[in-house]
Amino acid sequence: MSSAIIQAKNLCKTYSSEGVATAALCGVTFSVAKGEFISIMGPSGSGKSTLMQMLGMLDRPTGGEYLFEGKNINDYTDDELAKIRNKKIGFIFQSFNLLPRTSVYENVELPLLYDDDHLEMNNEEKIMKALRSVGMEHRVDYLSNQLSGGEKQRVAVARALVNDPEVIFADEPTGNLDSKSGLQVMRILQELNNQGHTIILVTHETYTAQHAKRILQVKDGKLVGDAIVTNRLIAKGEGELLK
Ligand SMILES: Nc1ncnc2c1ncn2[C@@H]1O[C@H](COP(=O)(O)OP(=O)(O)O)[C@@H](O)[C@H]1O
Ligand SMILES: [Mg+2]
Repeated sequence: MSSAIIQAKNLCKTYSSEGVATAALCGVTFSVAKGEFISIMGPSGSGKSTLMQMLGMLDRPTGGEYLFEGKNINDYTDDELAKIRNKKIGFIFQSFNLLPRTSVYENVELPLLYDDDHLEMNNEEKIMKALRSVGMEHRVDYLSNQLSGGEKQRVAVARALVNDPEVIFADEPTGNLDSKSGLQVMRILQELNNQGHTIILVTHETYTAQHAKRILQVKDGKLVGDAIVTNRLIAKGEGELLK
């Protein structure tokens, strides 16, 4: 598949701590084309977050090969990986991971500060564009702890997309949200996918997973299913987003 942005070949991850080895992932092979929207599903402890950390280059596999945009990540140093990650990948987590007592603006600015190439560009414009796209521009001067859970997650989405990444990874992004806020986040992810971003969503909820176009099933660290979503759900909501 020439347009594959992600290729995992026999990917394995064994954690070792204090003499105890845990095989969290083993023999996982699949690829993702640019522009796909994939859900990774599976029960708690099945290896979903581990897989996301490998694919997002937050951690290295202990076996197999991982190619991002056709290049083997083993050929990169940790510093090089960090640069690629910052430029090409956005992350959204269940617990939002915003800096506490820090403004919405500064939270969204963070990825730009790590990116040498962006130092001279107009950061404010990018930050406001990202905030507008998740309907949060009116909260730009709020501190992160003054926001509701749904608002926090929308700010986290703005932070994930401020660098205009190729791929957005979301690990249980609706896990801490009420159903209305969760649907808002799913709607934003679908809009981002319509605009061309590749989305990889980790969830244990079937309903959430069905907003994707393809579902991978993980069980006991192995890939046990890979299917196109036939009755895809489209999240609708009030107000205009992503103008
Ligand atoms: N940092 C770690 N050190 C040791 N074991 C870990 C670590 N992270 C995850 N694991 C183990 O790996 C397995 C898969 O975990 P995880 O990927 O978090 O699953 P999921 O996200 O599907 O709930 C579990 O058995 C978990 O306990
Ligand atoms: Mg997890």
